[in-house]
Amino acid sequence: MLAGRKILLIIGGGIAAYKSLDLIRRFKERGASVVPVLTKGGSEFVTPLSVTALAGEKLYSDLFDLGDEAEMGHIQLSRAADLVVVAPATADLMGKMASGQANDLATTLLMATDKRVLIAPAMNVRMWDHASTQANAEQLKKDGVLFVGPNDGNMACGEFGPGRMAEPMEIVKAVEDILLNGPLKGRHIVVTSGPTHEPIDPVRYIANRSSGAQGTAIANALAGLGATVTFVTGPARHPWPSGCKIVPVETADEMMAAVDAALPADAGVFAAAVADWKVTSASDQKIKKTKDGLPELSFAENPDILRTVSNLKKNRPELVVGFAAETNDVLENATAKRKRKGCDWIVANDVSPETGIMGGDDNDVTLISDGGADSWPRMSKEEVGHQLADKIAAALRG
Ligand code: CTP
Repeated sequence: MLAGRKILLIIGGGIAAYKSLDLIRRFKERGASVVPVLTKGGSEFVTPLSVTALAGEKLYSDLFDLGDEAEMGHIQLSRAADLVVVAPATADLMGKMASGQANDLATTLLMATDKRVLIAPAMNVRMWDHASTQANAEQLKKDGVLFVGPNDGNMACGEFGPGRMAEPMEIVKAVEDILLNGPLKGRHIVVTSGPTHEPIDPVRYIANRSSGAQGTAIANALAGLGATVTFVTGPARHPWPSGCKIVPVETADEMMAAVDAALPADAGVFAAAVADWKVTSASDQKIKKTKDGLPELSFAENPDILRTVSNLKKNRPELVVGFAAETNDVLENATAKRKRKGCDWIVANDVSPETGIMGGDDNDVTLISDGGADSWPRMSKEEVGHQLADKIAAALRG
């Protein structure tokens, strides 16, 4: 099953494009959503209307459509998916991919994506056997592009040999292998993310500036390696990850209960910026201004989710990862925090306003473990997610 998975399907300009219509149906039957991109050549073989009707999603086809750019930039479009599938991948499209051309929407998306790319080549047998196509295929494999097919068989042009596009069910199988059989297959990981909101009254609350971007990137990367992810999120601005079980909560108490209910897990990644205090004097009705002066709020400490989980006697995940958001003496504070909380790893970062990290796109982290402190170069939150997911996969394996 591909429930909750998002596939960006690029349909190239070849006769096999008709099979891509069936492919969309097969993906959808398995619960995946398909965002279709039709190349100019592709639209000579299948109509935009049939593609949109089957996908039930907006069709993207032109790089310079300003409306689409405003709605969703091509960079974002290339990254919102779990996997990019090119079917059919023509000789021309493969050549452009191998040489790094980005002169239309499809090739631009293929260059901008940070997701894995699976291509289903389809072309005449002589074109497939041609030295330049073979060199391009070699280059694409080196670049990490995944292949399904081409198969041997009768071709639309009347010839016989390799070049036939893989059948839709073979492509589905290849996608399932990629998305569901990663190194974290069979592992359950709980990720907390976003801020919490602690109500003062029905209209006011205490919150913080966490956008949820880092937690989302980690959850996406873990799911991309095949983990079953329970994503417990406070009210975050960032869109939720795909392919995860989402548990939306508001307060720290609710987050604690949701994490508790999600256990057991093989690993826990606690990226949420949990409010340290809740308002015990929260009112059921809106607090009004009075002549008698300012309202008095009383506070109580919230449960420390990371510390609680790290110290569980039963059901403690094999690997517990916390975050340390600091504004000064980052390494010292984070090292002490790791001890205090009892977690295995701490991902430390400097969230002083001048770093632009809280609410920004990049992160600058140091991973503190038993082995010491490992400072990573500044990189995007998505890249931090991938690196951390790879390290988690290695730790759980070994
Ligand atoms: N955390 C948590 N529950 C809390 C507070 C924090 O699970 N009630 C987790 C965060 O998700 C993060 C780690 O603890 O993984 C550290 O969060 P941080 O806000 O940096 O630390 P605090 O515990 O709040 O410590 P301090 O306020 O002293 O910096």
